[in-house]
Amino acid sequence: MKSHLHTLGYRFLTRTLTGADNGESHLPGLTRRGFLVATASLSSCSMLSSDKNEPALTATTPTGPADPVKTPSNRAYRTPPVQGPVPRNPDMNLRADFSKSAGVTFTRVPVAGKYIALTFDDGPHPQNTPRLLDILRARNVKATFYVIGRSVDLYPGVVRRTVAEGHEIGNHTYTHRLLSKLGDAEVRQEMARTRDAIARAAGVQPRTMRPPYGGLLQRQRELVHAEFNYPTILWSVDPLDWKRPGPSVVTSRILSNTTAGGIVLAHDLHSQTVDAMPATIDGLLRQGYRFVTVSQLLAMKVETATAQAAVETPGQ
Ligand code: NI
Repeated sequence: MKSHLHTLGYRFLTRTLTGADNGESHLPGLTRRGFLVATASLSSCSMLSSDKNEPALTATTPTGPADPVKTPSNRAYRTPPVQGPVPRNPDMNLRADFSKSAGVTFTRVPVAGKYIALTFDDGPHPQNTPRLLDILRARNVKATFYVIGRSVDLYPGVVRRTVAEGHEIGNHTYTHRLLSKLGDAEVRQEMARTRDAIARAAGVQPRTMRPPYGGLLQRQRELVHAEFNYPTILWSVDPLDWKRPGPSVVTSRILSNTTAGGIVLAHDLHSQTVDAMPATIDGLLRQGYRFVTVSQLLAMKVETATAQAAVETPGQ
């Protein structure tokens, strides 16, 4: 049992961390309990790899924990506002109602001003996402999270907090498979299951989607746009943070490649990416960028000539 859990934990986390998908059928059905056991077994594995006297796992008793006590929801609670002035990135009441005719696919958005969208894929993660939320909140920065539906079902509270703090949630499929290899019915199911998981967890509907690995055929993009109203959101800045090059490399790649209207791709699944964010966000703020959600960025879309004129007329 122990060695099986070691293997399972390793495979699950490896797959989660790399974003790879080799189609093993037992993994999508992994429960929260199974995930925790697998996580525990992996950390034991890395910490005690030379210790042959490792105690047996105790989380394998046949009876599960009691169901949580149900209480009425506290609807009066609101996340407190950020304390103190945040002069470089003031709270912005920007519209987010972009037109369906704005486009089917975006890698960046022509806008009049130094607006960018930070996006984080492959969460929610039970530790790294809350840590990232703290970093964003301290700077009054809003981001967009392309979540995996399966993880939303495991950690709905993390998604609720993300929404409560003003961030946007996007659809990143339920099982993180390469959609371009799937039929239309499976693509619809991936979108619908994730949409429903997000609605259950946080009471909101995603408004855009990002395909895992960026892989979505043009015909599929049009299908998703027509049936779910989701534009396909790719990216203009990719620091390759999933290869874990170290926080300072992630920061320097983002700082040197970001331009106005850009969409920055990162992964809140990885602790190194979260480690990189304070310096990254502070650096972008110093460069004069303002952070908006993807929907807000789409709603600011201007004709390319107008955006070009704004860029060429500094000091606006
Ligand atoms: Ni992904």
